[in-house]
Amino acid sequence: VLEANNARESLYVVSLYAANYFANELWTGEQGRAIGLSYFKERGFREDIIKKFELGYSPDQWDALILSAASAGHKEEYLEKTGLAIRNEKGKVYDRFRGRVMFPIHNFTGRVIGFGGRTLKTDKNVPKYVNSPESDIYHKSNVLYGLYQAKKAIRDLDNCYLVEGYADVLSVHQANIENVVASSGTSLTIEQIRLIGRFTQNVTILYDGDAAGIKASLRGLDMILEEGLNVKVVNFPDGHDPDSYMHKVGAGAFKIYIENNRKDFILYKADTLLKEAGTDPIKRAGIIRDIVESIAKIPDDIKASVFIRECSHLLQVEERMLMTELNKIRSAKF
Ligand code: CTP
Ligand code: MN
Ligand code: MN
Ligand code: MN
Ligand code: MN
Repeated sequence: VLEANNARESLYVVSLYAANYFANELWTGEQGRAIGLSYFKERGFREDIIKKFELGYSPDQWDALILSAASAGHKEEYLEKTGLAIRNEKGKVYDRFRGRVMFPIHNFTGRVIGFGGRTLKTDKNVPKYVNSPESDIYHKSNVLYGLYQAKKAIRDLDNCYLVEGYADVLSVHQANIENVVASSGTSLTIEQIRLIGRFTQNVTILYDGDAAGIKASLRGLDMILEEGLNVKVVNFPDGHDPDSYMHKVGAGAFKIYIENNRKDFILYKADTLLKEAGTDPIKRAGIIRDIVESIAKIPDDIKASVFIRECSHLLQVEERMLMTELNKIRSAKF
């Protein structure tokens, strides 16, 4: 029986086994090749990207992984503890991931700690993604998808792109931008921002161009500012996400788009909110306060005063008035 010298280690061992099993099914399984691999190819993913992220396929049956792991000597107990297998009320154990393309999730040292599995069905009643639950080795709020593959580039380029989903990470890599991670499945947490902060102080948000993505990017940028990091935002047109936009325009044009449409948070926030407010003067006054509230989150006073000046030009408001507002917000906080 394959068992490591402690329980946590055994969870890593069985997770790695599962990742290899799913990858093997994708590349050599009859169903995996016909359904899984062709799905990735139809979406436009290159083979080197599929391999780099160790993508896989879970066969559409109740016990494919369970049987394979058992024959290799893995205890069912550990499959259950990672959430790869589920025990129902009747005590029957079955695979969590069935008939899905698989995205292994690594911690930043490269160990497999969980999975995301995407359905191939277009049926709206089937959840698009199924994810591993929390376990002794997988704490979602502390993990960024793709950080293991991105960390060197993040350090070298001194910037980190932040996207929403698994496919976005793959597509941005395919456009030769390797400094990208996803918060995937959870809304961005303080722990995830601190994790980025170990590699760079500069974050660029590339969230989906839909209402949910825009809302999440505004919330995200406030949290990033609060942690003392610098933040810029790129938004995508017509509800595109980085993945769909990259495949629409191609890798070269995508890279140029990112470079030309990177906005300082303050400009991004002003543009976004002004678009919503239209010409209503009361709403416009609210926007000024909202932006100053973001600036108030910046711990560094010198940086904050630079953004106050920028805000004053941008919104045609006196700097002195903005400073008064800033001090009001700050003193209310303490
Ligand atoms: N997500 C999830 N469960 C869902 C939907 C989304 O966990 N039912 C997570 C996934 O990590 C997903 C991310 O939230 O990648 C962003 O969601 P969404 O934009 O809806 O999916 P995409 O990543 O764009 O998925 P795809 O391109 O494969 O359709
Ligand atoms: Mn723990
Ligand atoms: Mn979305
Ligand atoms: Mn998306
Ligand atoms: Mn998408």
